[in-house]
Amino acid sequence: NEILEYLAYDEPKKAAEVAQKRLGLSARHSHNTKDLAKYMPKGMKQAGYNMHSAASDFAQVAKKGNTESAYEALMAVTQSCVECHAGYRTR
Ligand code: HEC
Repeated sequence: NEILEYLAYDEPKKAAEVAQKRLGLSARHSHNTKDLAKYMPKGMKQAGYNMHSAASDFAQVAKKGNTESAYEALMAVTQSCVECHAGYRTR
């Protein structure tokens, strides 16, 4: 939501910062993935990795300051959200 907000106000560099800090590959260890990951099927772990990776890619693109290409790169992130949510449900 924060990322979309910054893009809507034409501030792709700020969107890049949020993505990098909160969703990117380097953010993976900011939550207790080790404890959680042992309960995840392999495909789910992969989907999680894909999401973090897509967020890092997004940050790289958005950092350059072009809002339109940032939106385009964001599609890969939201696609990876859907990938996990559609495939793995507990209810
Ligand atoms: C690796 C799998 C996975 C990926 C990738 C993933 N999610 Fe989720 N998401 C879950 C699971 C599992 C839950 C349910 C967690 C729970 O109920 O405690 C969840 C819950 C949520 C919720 C509900 C939170 C709540 O408090 O009820 C939202 C909103 C959400 N995800 C958004 C996203 C968005 C946006 C992305 C992409 C940036 C994303 N998710 C990527 C697995 C994933």
